[in-house]
Amino acid sequence: MSVIHLVSGGCGFVGRNLVKRLLQTTQDYFFVVDDLSTGTAPEHWLEGASGTEKAVGLKAYGPGGRLLFLHSDFRTFLRDIQDNANLLKERYNLPFDRFTNIYHFAAIVGGRAKIDGDPMMVALDLSIDAEFFYWVCNYKPERVLFPSSSAAYPVDLQSDEGAVALKESDISFESRLGQPDMTYGWSKLTGEYLAQIAARHYGISVACVRPFSGYGEDQDLTYPIPAIAARAAAKEDPFEVWGTGQQGRDFVHIDDCIDAILMAMDNVHDGSAINIGSGRLTSFLEIIDIFTDIAGYKPTIKPLLHKPVGVHARHADMSYVSNTFDWKPKISIREGMERVYKKALERLDNKA
Ligand SMILES: NC(=O)c1ccc[n+]([C@@H]2O[C@H](COP(=O)([O-])OP(=O)(O)OC[C@H]3O[C@@H](n4cnc5c(N)ncnc54)[C@H](O)[C@@H]3O)[C@@H](O)[C@H]2O)c1
Repeated sequence: MSVIHLVSGGCGFVGRNLVKRLLQTTQDYFFVVDDLSTGTAPEHWLEGASGTEKAVGLKAYGPGGRLLFLHSDFRTFLRDIQDNANLLKERYNLPFDRFTNIYHFAAIVGGRAKIDGDPMMVALDLSIDAEFFYWVCNYKPERVLFPSSSAAYPVDLQSDEGAVALKESDISFESRLGQPDMTYGWSKLTGEYLAQIAARHYGISVACVRPFSGYGEDQDLTYPIPAIAARAAAKEDPFEVWGTGQQGRDFVHIDDCIDAILMAMDNVHDGSAINIGSGRLTSFLEIIDIFTDIAGYKPTIKPLLHKPVGVHARHADMSYVSNTFDWKPKISIREGMERVYKKALERLDNKA
């Protein structure tokens, strides 16, 4: 029998990559709710899909119309479905009563400029996640995925003097939380706490993941990897870098992130969180070096010391995930950056 999954924020970077993957690998249906505040409608990312009106405000896309897209604030949708348990059948005319799995990607996210520059806007994630978990505990779906973030880790473990590879156990609701990264980190940490409450007090199967710096070909240009690739493709020289460029992150390709999310859904049920990273710290100077090497030139580096840079070094200890679940990322940093660079060149050619 066909099943339908709910994907909040499914028009964003992680959500759309997950939906595209699962449309290919399953025969399931996906009900995406996104307010398009930063995401883009499926016609822009699902090949050959133009969308047909299925019911008021709801469009069906792709082969068999298995992607259903509702343009709405996720909180409005949750209130609607809370008031009307037959919403899927009655208003949207679907042959389904209930969602099976729920992937919750709706969030206000952004690069450093947004996290540091508009922290109260990002704090709205607290409201989205609180309404989400409140609803989940009554609805009782089969499984839930909550994306936390590496930003939930204590910032004092990521300073220039004492940075360590971050282990899942560095966050403990029983003994140590530390200071997460701005309102974004607080909202992720709070979301994890709500996930544990949902699992332990209400018996909901919830998996949390802490992705480090996910990147990919179709990521928004406000994020550093596609932005640096675009500038390398345009042969920028001198090459600008925020701060000294010595600050480092753990970059993990979106295809590996999706693999890890699906693995977590199958294996984690108690609301606990696992890292998604490569286990390797790479500085922004190294990233520039890789991209300009691919582009075939060696620019002068121009540090922009007034720009926000966040913590000095943030990278994952992947030993828990590799020992417990036998999971490792497959895409090397060079291969991932080559893919992003190829896309940047295509964008440049289309502009010309
Ligand atoms: N991309 C990464 O590397 C990364 C790393 C760590 C954590 N995460 C987490 O994964 C999740 C998805 O991140 P992303 O990179 O895809 O972000 P994104 O901004 O690309 O996607 C978020 C989506 O949510 C939508 N949205 C925002 N507010 C909404 C609302 N009120 N109702 C409905 N839709 C709403 C946006 O339009 C967008 O499409 C977030 O929770 C983020 O914190 C991502």
